[in-house]
Amino acid sequence: MATQHHQNDELDHSNLSIRPLDPATDVDDLMVWVSDDQVTQFCRWDTYTSRDQAIEYINKFVLTHPYYRVICLNNRAIGAISVTCNTGNDKCRGELGYVLASEYWGRGVATWAVKAVMFTIFEERPELERVEALVDVENKGSQRVLEKGGFIKEGVLRKYCIQKGKTRDMVMFSFLKLV
Ligand SMILES: CC(C)(COP(=O)(O)OP(=O)(O)OC[C@H]1O[C@@H](n2cnc3c(N)ncnc32)[C@H](O)[C@@H]1OP(=O)(O)O)[C@@H](O)C(=O)NCCC(=O)NCCS
Repeated sequence: MATQHHQNDELDHSNLSIRPLDPATDVDDLMVWVSDDQVTQFCRWDTYTSRDQAIEYINKFVLTHPYYRVICLNNRAIGAISVTCNTGNDKCRGELGYVLASEYWGRGVATWAVKAVMFTIFEERPELERVEALVDVENKGSQRVLEKGGFIKEGVLRKYCIQKGKTRDMVMFSFLKLV
């Protein structure tokens, strides 16, 4: 009998990969998560309501971003992960962000993606000495992902940013380059 995927079933990680977004093939897959209120709840950006908005986001943000990758299952994009680097005297530090279509939550995909990026990022970006991630205090799933990915919780930054009109406390996590 064929087995079905259930929440908390781990996916076969050998079918997962990370690659740059291809605007020719990935727009509709990206639409799935950017248009989902459940996904954007803890994100600083608002839910996208049209394909045109998503295309504008891809052209302005994704394609110009130095490290934005889609997380793929059998080469279809199901989420994204990025490391935003800084310049000047802040170039030692980059910020990790990730998002996953809700259909795939709870199967170890984000943890896999974080580990995959952290395995190579310090070689790919030699100027980085620290990757940090800021997570809403209520976003327990994302905090768990970071802990499982080897990040250390540094503390809570109170009233740190405004998300969906509310000022939020954020947890600061970091992962340092081994010297
Ligand atoms: C956060 C997110 C990326 C997690 O992705 P995921 O693939 O489901 O994560 P994983 O399956 O790798 O791991 C989830 C872990 O968090 C735990 N978890 C999930 N929801 C939880 C909750 N509400 N409370 C406590 N733990 C929770 C899971 O049990 C699992 O830990 P375990 O393996 O020890 O059981 C996904 O939910 C998402 O895209 N959310 C919306 C966007 C977002 O919040 N991005 C991060 C912004 S900082």
